[in-house]
Order: sequence, then structure tokens, then C-alpha cells
Amino acid sequence: MTLTNRAVIVIIGGGIAAYKSLDLIRRLKKRGAGVRVILTEAATAFVTPLSVSALSGNRALLRLLDAESEPDSGHIRLAYSSDLIVVAPATADLMARMATGRADDLATAVLLAATCPILIAPAMNPAMWQHPATQRNFWRLMDDGVEAVGPNSGAMAEPEQGVGRMAEPPEIVAAAENLLKSRSALLAGKKVLVTAGPTYEAIDPVRFLGNRSSGKQGYAIARAAAAAGADVTLVSGPTALADPRDVRVDRVESAREMLAAVLAALPVDIAVFCAAVADWRVDVESDHKIKKTGESPPVFTLVENPDILSTVAHLEENRPKIVVGFAAETDYVLKHAREKLLKKGCDFILANDVSPERGIMGGDNNSIHVVTAEGVTDWPLMAKDDVARHLVAYLAEYRVKD
Ligand code: PMT
Repeated sequence: MTLTNRAVIVIIGGGIAAYKSLDLIRRLKKRGAGVRVILTEAATAFVTPLSVSALSGNRALLRLLDAESEPDSGHIRLAYSSDLIVVAPATADLMARMATGRADDLATAVLLAATCPILIAPAMNPAMWQHPATQRNFWRLMDDGVEAVGPNSGAMAEPEQGVGRMAEPPEIVAAAENLLKSRSALLAGKKVLVTAGPTYEAIDPVRFLGNRSSGKQGYAIARAAAAAGADVTLVSGPTALADPRDVRVDRVESAREMLAAVLAALPVDIAVFCAAVADWRVDVESDHKIKKTGESPPVFTLVENPDILSTVAHLEENRPKIVVGFAAETDYVLKHAREKLLKKGCDFILANDVSPERGIMGGDNNSIHVVTAEGVTDWPLMAKDDVARHLVAYLAEYRVKD
């Protein structure tokens, strides 16, 4: 069930084999994949956007400069939110444009921005397939990490035989499943610790100091790490979210409980501190509900909570190989994130702007700036699940410094 709930983009190039891609879409959908389809201009001469939309259940995507989706970089969002791209048929022309990094239509722009696995199903006339230029392009794509299924040999549309037939849809689906299986184990064998949600700092048995974190971002990271084959422990503050599947969940309330749970989960290879830990708690928690007296309201003295991220990043023993912090800021986001990177001693920080109008805390989307000692990389606004998948891919590539 590798394809269940996976976001797959099918790119249809302009070749006679395009008619088989309709069957491919049907088969991917049948296996539970969510399918978006991009047609190159030439492909529309072979299959209609209407049949593609009807079969995929989504509007066929045709243009790069689409007024509806491009104001927020729709093609980048599309590329980032996919688990797999299948190019079928991959024509000689489309392969040439991919191999040279062109981005002059929606198909090539999405392919260039994609970080997910890409599977091509070449299809063309045998002479075109054997041409040194096509072979050069094909092998360049293989060097770039693209995978291929076919082409097969057999009867062609023209009255000739040879290698150039597109693989049959069942073969393409099987290759897609194998590719997803092999690439989804990015963190296989790694132990990952994630913190998520707010902490509640009790004032008395019924009142607490807290914050608006929902836990969605941290839970998404735990889910994505588990899906990538990691052994995941999630230390969660109070949230309304269900435990993610295949993740060990330790639910805590206060910052001090969270610290204890985090230390108990060590050693791990990677620790991601996404929780919005309360910086302060009241110095003395009342063991009974504090009553209104009719006199002056109570005055609380706050004391600082332990900094969990900093404690773990500065451990002499059992420090995870990669320690990732978050920075939730409402102003001077990058400046404050850089300061936190230095002060807290983590390897990199994911900074997000949590000003209320951005809707990030508690919302479903996030826009991240990855702050490292070397510089800053901006990720576009995307679903928290996509941020999580991106982080997993980033962690899998991250080189641990000696
Ligand atoms: O939960 P959601 O609604 O999905 O929202 C996600 C989020 C906005 C909470 C998340 O993306 C995020 O930014 N998490 C970090 C929140 C935070 O507390 O940031 P901070 O800048 O105050 O802290 C910096 C880092 O130190 C964080 O990694 C935090 O976990 C850690 N910290 C802070 C204080 C403390 N006492 N101990 C800590 O470990």
C-alpha cells in the first residue's frame, strides 16, 4: 500500500503513448494515491484536459503563468507538496529539457523545483531513443538521481519495431511503488526525538500559564520521521491531537516534566525541539484554588524554566548528532534566530514568524527560514506536513561536523 495517501504528480508529455497515461492515472488512484496531472502543450494534442480532470478528480494543470495559482508560487508549492513525480510518456524533447534544467513550462518548472523522487517512462521512436543526444540526456538524468522504467521493445505506432515503447501502466505503477519504498527509508536505523505542543505551568490546581501552540508542526515532524523509517519518540505537551502511528508518545505538562522526559529518551541520533516551552513558571504553585478575596489581586513572581534545547545541545555525553531548534518570533525573526543558534548551541534553527496575522501557531501551514552558521535558506509557505517531509529530507542529507 505504498501509494496510499501519497501525493503523485503525473506529467504527460506529447507523444502517442499519452493515451496509456489515462490508464496509469486510473491505476494510481485505485491504489489510493492523490493524483494531480500536468499536461505539456504538446500532450494536449493527444489527450484532453477534460478526460485527465475526470479521471484524476483534479483540474488538469496546463500553464506555468496561471493567474489563479501563481501569485503564491503555485508551481513551487506543487513541487514541494508531492511525494513522487511520474513523467509518462517522457518524450525525447521533455527529457532534453529536464536534462538541461529548463523551466520554461509548468512541467519543467515543477520538475526543477521538486525534491521528491522522479520516475520517467521514456517513449519515442527507436531511432530517436538511440540517438546519442537522447542517450546523453537519459544518462544525465540517471546521474541526477532520476529513475526510469522502460522503454520496452516491441511494435511502435509507426510500422517499425525496436526499443522505444512506453512501459505498460502496471509496470509503471510497480516501479513507482518500488521507488517510493526505497526512498521512504531516508532515516532508517536512526533514533529521532521530537518535542511538540505547549507546556502548561500550573498556578494552582485549575489555572496555568500556557501558549497557543497546537502541536501540529511537531506531530507532523514525528509522523514524517516515522514514515522515513526512524524510531521516533515524541515528547508532547498538552494537545488535542491523536498519537501519531508508529511513534512512541510521552505526554507531559510542564517544562520541567518535558526536560525529564527528553533526558530519559536519550541517546538518540537526531533531536528536533519544536515545542513551545513556557520560558517562565510561578515560583510557588498553590495546592488549592486561589480565591478572590475582594482585596488586591494576587501578585505572582515568575522564575525561569530550564531551557531544554540548550541543555541537550550542551550535553557532554549523549548529545544527539544533530540538534535542531525552532525559533518562534514576532519581530526581527532572522536576527533573533541567529542569536538563539549561537546561544542554545544547536546545529541549525528553523525560524518562523508567529505574528498572529500569519496564522502559523495553531494553523495548518508554515513558512520556514533555515538558519545555519553558514546562512539562511527560505522555504516557501507550505502545509506543516510538507515542512516535516522537507525537514526529513534535509536531515537525511545533513552532514554532521566532526
Ligand atoms: O504547535 P503549532 O501550532 O503547530 O505551532 C508550531 C510552532 C510555531 C510552535 C513551532 O513551529 C515553533 O516555532 N516552535 C518553537 C516555539 C518556541 O518556543 O520557540 P522559542 O523561540 O521560544 O524557543 C526557541 C527554541 O528553544 C525552541 O526550539 C524551543 O523548543 C526551545 N526552548 C525554549 C524555551 C525553553 N525553556 N526550552 C526550550 O527547549
